[in-house]
Amino acid sequence: MSEPPFSEVLRNATWSSHESAEDESYLKALMEGRLSAEAYGEMVAQHYFAYVALDNASKALADDPVAGPFVFPALYREEALVRDLETIYGSGWRSRIEPSMPTRTLVARIEQVASWPGGHIAHHYTRYMGDLSGGQFIRMELQKIYGYQRDGGVDFYRFDEVGSLPRFKNDYRARLDALPVDEAEKQRIIGETRLAYQLNTEVLADLGRVMRAELAA
Ligand code: HEM
Repeated sequence: MSEPPFSEVLRNATWSSHESAEDESYLKALMEGRLSAEAYGEMVAQHYFAYVALDNASKALADDPVAGPFVFPALYREEALVRDLETIYGSGWRSRIEPSMPTRTLVARIEQVASWPGGHIAHHYTRYMGDLSGGQFIRMELQKIYGYQRDGGVDFYRFDEVGSLPRFKNDYRARLDALPVDEAEKQRIIGETRLAYQLNTEVLADLGRVMRAELAA
């Protein structure tokens, strides 16, 4: 029997980590429309710090033979996140936000693996493939709850320049399948993807504390 493609191996090996991320109570409360726009903004703010690091790491690897095929300017999120933060918090948004401890840890890890192409791909996959998948469902729910449409609020989840998302995701998976690395490196990428999920889940768990404070008030 032929080996399953790496995109499938990676997905299957990390799907239980996905379930832990998806199950976070902050996301559930958010999707149920129980949080204020400011409490939603807390997640947007944490995304801002993580994506500045992720986008920068990606840009620096544009010419790398392994990570280069995953560098797509259409995925960069910093500008969209700034528009969302301006919409939620107004022009003084920058002084309203700061990275949480779990976000600092995530950012440090993204920066640490910026010189390891496989490690960067792990974080890239965990975030962008998620934003292009479940993220689209999240966007539709947030639009219904907060009334955001275009030009700020949920632009983070909009990938207008990517074109067809199913086609893009298939192409992304084909790039994972064609990774020019050996089996040991593939296993390291799987390990780093599990860590990426864990670090992202810890950011959400911390947002759960913010949420409980708001719901208790
Ligand atoms: C409400 C929360 C979430 C929902 C409902 C959700 C739902 C989904 C669904 C339905 C898919 C499969 C889409 C497809 O096959 O095309 C998916 C894929 C994915 N999600 Fe999520 N997700 C959520 C949160 C997250 C979070 C927090 C992360 C990362 C931290 C994440 C990362 C991913 C990744 C990387 C994939 C791609 C898996 C693959 O096909 O290889 N998701 N998500």
